[in-house]
Amino acid sequence: MVTNSKLHMGSFLLSLFFASTLAISSVSASNGKTFYEILTQSGLPGGLLPDSVKDFSFSSKDGSFVVELEKSCYVQFENLVNYDQNITGTIKYGSITNLDGIKVKRFLLWRDVDEIRVDLPPSDFIYFHLGLINKKLDAGQFKTVHSCKDGLSSQGSWKDILKVPTPINEVPMLLTE
Ligand SMILES: *[C@@H]1O[C@H](CO)[C@@H](O)[C@H](O)[C@H]1NC(C)=O
Repeated sequence: MVTNSKLHMGSFLLSLFFASTLAISSVSASNGKTFYEILTQSGLPGGLLPDSVKDFSFSSKDGSFVVELEKSCYVQFENLVNYDQNITGTIKYGSITNLDGIKVKRFLLWRDVDEIRVDLPPSDFIYFHLGLINKKLDAGQFKTVHSCKDGLSSQGSWKDILKVPTPINEVPMLLTE
């Protein structure tokens, strides 16, 4: 009898323990995945967003997401990219649509990036839709997560501009450049 109730107590405590660990793990953002993992599991390069992600939510139901960065900032890719503090969009396999909060500098003008797509099956390229323009970029540069810089320091000295790698051959294809 005594042994039996001890056993029951033990399994009761054990199930309490598992229940509480389950409760804790479901609290963390999107089942403990990082936004990097959500991107890579969607066939997208994980470095599309910088390392300063403070918080995010992701709905696996419709793919919609909200990312909050520490603050608005810049990363120098082949083109300079500006991130708003808050970025929203919808992730599907191989694409982000309804994107809001990312801009690309092109010929001295900032253009909103509405959509980002990769080829399926994957190629070496990634496509940023800037309104009517489909900008073809080398996907490799988005594979690693970059640190994000404040405006002025990253606007780039002339040295930074000279360091930018020569653009890959941009073959015009309809409006793809
Ligand atoms: C970004 O979202 C956070 C959390 O919802 C909010 O506190 C902040 O004001 C937003 N920032 C901007 C620039 O809208």
